[in-house]
Amino acid sequence: MIQYSDELVRRTNELFYNLGGESYDHSHDEIIVLEVPRWKKIAELFLKNSEKKRIVLDVGCGTGFVPSVICPYLKRDDEMICADISREILNQCRTKLGQKKFDCNLSYKIYDGTCLPLENYSADVITMNSVLHHIPDTGFFLKEVSRVLKKGGYLIIGHEANALFYKNWIIWTLYRILYVLYHPKSIFDILRKRGFLEYDKTILKQGNQEDELTAKINNSLLAEGLINQRLTRLKIDNIVEYYNIRGFTIKDINQYLNFELIFFETYNHLYWVFVEHYKNPFIVLLNKILGFFYPKDGKNMLLIFKKP
Ligand SMILES: C[S@@+](CC[C@H](N)C(=O)[O-])C[C@H]1O[C@@H](n2cnc3c(N)ncnc32)[C@H](O)[C@@H]1O
Repeated sequence: MIQYSDELVRRTNELFYNLGGESYDHSHDEIIVLEVPRWKKIAELFLKNSEKKRIVLDVGCGTGFVPSVICPYLKRDDEMICADISREILNQCRTKLGQKKFDCNLSYKIYDGTCLPLENYSADVITMNSVLHHIPDTGFFLKEVSRVLKKGGYLIIGHEANALFYKNWIIWTLYRILYVLYHPKSIFDILRKRGFLEYDKTILKQGNQEDELTAKINNSLLAEGLINQRLTRLKIDNIVEYYNIRGFTIKDINQYLNFELIFFETYNHLYWVFVEHYKNPFIVLLNKILGFFYPKDGKNMLLIFKKP
């Protein structure tokens, strides 16, 4: 894995979601559609019917996916805090959630990607969906989680990248074959990633065109001195999705927490092929069969920890 500075990863994420976050809800069915039942179940189990007032922090809230699913389960005195590194996406979240009528109190906080914007031992529940792999210093972040969570509080990590998916060669090979069958042109990307084709030269052949988002991100990073040569879109995507192409194990996460893992499941055993074809009965069946034989090796995982 190529190492990038923490500052570059944080700033590239901030720019990426500031400048490109507008299309997020329309291009992420794997979350906006497919994660709804999972988060409803979580809310039923962990948030419904509590006597006492709770503080819930959603880190990397994006356009407000997690709060929009779980807020209906919170009561009048409960507080839902939405935090994100990107000001623009946080504004979208505010607009979107402001149109809904929830009983709980909602607040919005810019999170600079270092110290969490909460006091010690103040949160009852911390949620994050598809976020941990964007954060460059996993250890520092999880120590922050441990700092702000109350004793007996829950950390709920959804839609996270699972390292075991990449290590199961049967699943990985099957996924690659199906992906190439559905996207024949992707063979060129594979050759580029393996170093048989030079990505930058291909761009030059196409007239050195950068898409608008890539150009804007490059201009800012160059002006701020965070890079000294322009990045390709592929590199920007890899920086934004920093740990996604390697994933985490339970140990990678819990070594910084020492919490009790009270729930674990993996899903999306065919990764993008499943996400793009989740209505195709053959793909659904194959995904189920793989899930049956390899329950721990899906691309995404849900982990629920309890702080002792
Ligand atoms: C894939 S999106 C997920 C958004 C939302 N949780 C969802 O499920 O739709 C990743 C989010 O993490 C945010 N993010 C990226 N790096 C971050 C960091 N270091 N700290 C906090 N949020 C970050 C991005 O701005 C973006 O909103």
